[in-house]
Amino acid sequence: MTISPPTWNGPSIVVEGVTKSFGDVHALCGIDLAVERGTVLGLLGPNGAGKTTVVKILTTLLPPDSGRALVEGIDVVASPGAVREMIGLAGQSAAIQEELTGRENLEILGRLYHLGRTRARRRAEELLESFDLTVSADRPAKTYSGGMQRRLDLAASLVAQPAVLFLDEPTTGLDPRSRIGMWAVIRDLVSGGTTLMLTTQYLDEADELADEIVVIDHGLVIAAGTAETLKDRIGGDVLELVITDRARLADAARVMSGIGDAEPAVDGEAGQVSVPVGPRGSRAVIQAVRALDAAGIETEGLAIRRPSLDDVFLMLTGHAAESDADSDTRSGSRRRRRRERRARSVPEGTTS
Ligand SMILES: Nc1ncnc2c1ncn2[C@@H]1O[C@H](COP(=O)(O)OP(=O)(O)OP(=O)(O)O)[C@@H](O)[C@H]1O
Ligand SMILES: [Mg+2]
Repeated sequence: MTISPPTWNGPSIVVEGVTKSFGDVHALCGIDLAVERGTVLGLLGPNGAGKTTVVKILTTLLPPDSGRALVEGIDVVASPGAVREMIGLAGQSAAIQEELTGRENLEILGRLYHLGRTRARRRAEELLESFDLTVSADRPAKTYSGGMQRRLDLAASLVAQPAVLFLDEPTTGLDPRSRIGMWAVIRDLVSGGTTLMLTTQYLDEADELADEIVVIDHGLVIAAGTAETLKDRIGGDVLELVITDRARLADAARVMSGIGDAEPAVDGEAGQVSVPVGPRGSRAVIQAVRALDAAGIETEGLAIRRPSLDDVFLMLTGHAAESDADSDTRSGSRRRRRRERRARSVPEGTTS
């Protein structure tokens, strides 16, 4: 349960030149990264980038084809058993016994991790509270809804305080309240010394929790750094507008494309178009107002703001996070632009 005294002075997680293919699919093409002890690494990337494959290799569920992966200095291929003793991984529903109540499940896990009766009970109570399961705590887990089972599963992975914790999209599908509960538990564990590797589709989550961020695409690291240094790579401000008539969204994007430094990001639901404009803030605003007016496009709002991680992600990968459908229907020209953009962005700080 408790964190072992570190005998290894290097980073908690080291990945060097790791490759992995599934038949013709080159999921990882030589990944390098390192995570310092007691810090949070946010592993970001579009669907199919290779995030889960990295997590599976580090948690000994998949062997790499080549390269080296160490957890607390222990090689995942040479000593998988020793690695498993150091780590926690969410998503192991096998840990939940359906006939037992939520509370019983968590208490039993606590006992298994040698917490002692009182601490096991207290830990279960805390986790039930954090994941909004207190009301249903004394019902058998088999009566839980899908979302509740997922929350119980996450709680189960957090009963012990592992030295290194891997969470692969821990809050996907959780309601906002449980997401915030999850963040609180994560912060608590990390302040207690746990090292965390987190994959997420929610860039605000990475911004909130991650000390360092590694962005991967097509099995390669395309950027690494803190959220702030990544945002600085946008090189200035972002112009954002909300249009009144959603049907004119594509037209607005075309207009903005002539004003910004990169392809505009379009949020259809919000009727929003945003584009990086470098240091030309107010000049870009005037230009946008004139061009939109000339095109007969009405706006509800137009503003200059600091870049977000979403803007960075878009610049690096050519499309927004959480755009599943997009990755299948991307046109050739879009893919080409993305390659060009990537070629431009690779040189600075690719690995940590
Ligand atoms: N067992 C497998 N057999 C064949 N191909 C696989 C297998 N596992 C992963 N892949 C492929 O490897 C690539 C990387 O997959 P991975 O699951 O690591 O991506 P991801 O970044 O986690 O994506 P997502 O955001 O959708 O979870 C994808 O092209 C995927 O189709
Ligand atoms: Mg995945």
